[in-house]
Amino acid sequence: MSTLERQKVIIRGLLPADFDSVVRIDAKNIGRRREEFFKVKLMQNLAETGVKISLAAELDEIFVGFLLARVFYGEFGSTEPVAILETIDVHPDFRGHGVARALLGQLGENLNGLSVEFLRTEVDWNQPELLTFFNHEGFVPAQRLCLDLNLARARELREEREEAAL
Ligand SMILES: CC(C)(COP(=O)(O)OP(=O)(O)OC[C@H]1O[C@@H](n2cnc3c(N)ncnc32)[C@H](O)[C@@H]1OP(=O)(O)O)[C@@H](O)C(=O)NCCC(=O)NCCS
Repeated sequence: MSTLERQKVIIRGLLPADFDSVVRIDAKNIGRRREEFFKVKLMQNLAETGVKISLAAELDEIFVGFLLARVFYGEFGSTEPVAILETIDVHPDFRGHGVARALLGQLGENLNGLSVEFLRTEVDWNQPELLTFFNHEGFVPAQRLCLDLNLARARELREEREEAAL
């Protein structure tokens, strides 16, 4: 890709007015509309002061992608602040133009300004292409395991143990 092509990607802070575009692009990528999720996320983003770390990308003034990120302090017993990348979405028609890399690059700059050294994310089991992208951009598996507990299953286990103890 030429430098000129890359220069056309403009990165700016994500705005509440971007809501419709955000929901539309995300729905194209994941196959369902996540209105409630993004309503909350954009409100959080608006409420946060200081350096904006949720970003929008424009190519020739067209909204073509975005990412949502937040900084957490002292999560899971860690003493270092860590940024969490919650979502990254590029419109399918505008992929391969360096949009995601420009978004991540600007995020890295903004986090650097906040003295945040780590960016963390999670990838759905059924999104291997996202995994290969993150791998390509330098992400590696974290030194921690992410665990899920189905609370109904936990109740069943408790009941089974109580019955066994009788
Ligand atoms: C993955 C995704 C973000 C990439 O966006 P993009 O703008 O096309 O990526 P870029 O053009 O910035 O690519 C940057 C680099 O990554 C590479 N790349 C892009 N997609 C890749 C993939 N799926 N696997 C491996 N490498 C990939 C590019 O080739 C480029 O590398 P190069 O410059 O060395 O050739 C985009 O395909 C997307 O939005 N996918 C859907 C994501 C999704 O489902 N989000 C919702 C849940 S979080």
